[in-house]
Amino acid sequence: MTKAEALKILEELKNSPNMVKHALACGFVMKDLCIKFSKGNYNHSEPLDEEDWEIVGLLHDADYELTGKSLDRHTEETAKKLKEKNVDQSLIDAIRGHCDKASRTSLMAKAIYAADELTGLIVAAALVQPDKKLKSVTVESVQRKFKDKSFAAGANRDQIRTCESELNIPLEEFVSIVLKSMQDNAKELGL
Ligand SMILES: [Fe+2]
Repeated sequence: MTKAEALKILEELKNSPNMVKHALACGFVMKDLCIKFSKGNYNHSEPLDEEDWEIVGLLHDADYELTGKSLDRHTEETAKKLKEKNVDQSLIDAIRGHCDKASRTSLMAKAIYAADELTGLIVAAALVQPDKKLKSVTVESVQRKFKDKSFAAGANRDQIRTCESELNIPLEEFVSIVLKSMQDNAKELGL
């Protein structure tokens, strides 16, 4: 599967413009995390394919609106579509794993789990800036907002913190990677 095909699936599953932006953000971040793991000395044996990682980011919530935000059905419609297209099971497992439908064994699955919620926190951090722009957000401000439990309370801090326990990336570095990735693609994210 290619990125273009993944974008087509977002259309077919009738994602709203806001969901598409969330998908794009997670896609960019996943691609950059894959690049980081490819370059670093990480103990992994799985193939690290940037496009696969980006597709997992793009499609992890692809059926979220279609399934009426029902957690029971969430990711199942996407998984069905991907199976029909013979997409590798590791991508399907990572997508299902982000909402606890599959165990998160691969780096790809662990990465989307931790990054998903952080992209939400960073979008919220941008929207409270006077110019509402990602460029005005700093790693320090995200870390402050991370500690303030009342800020974007829906962004699960424990889930974000699995960057340390599951990916071996300190929180500050993880925030820095995810923020940079979103800032580099701010135009496409409309922020
Ligand atoms: Fe998500």
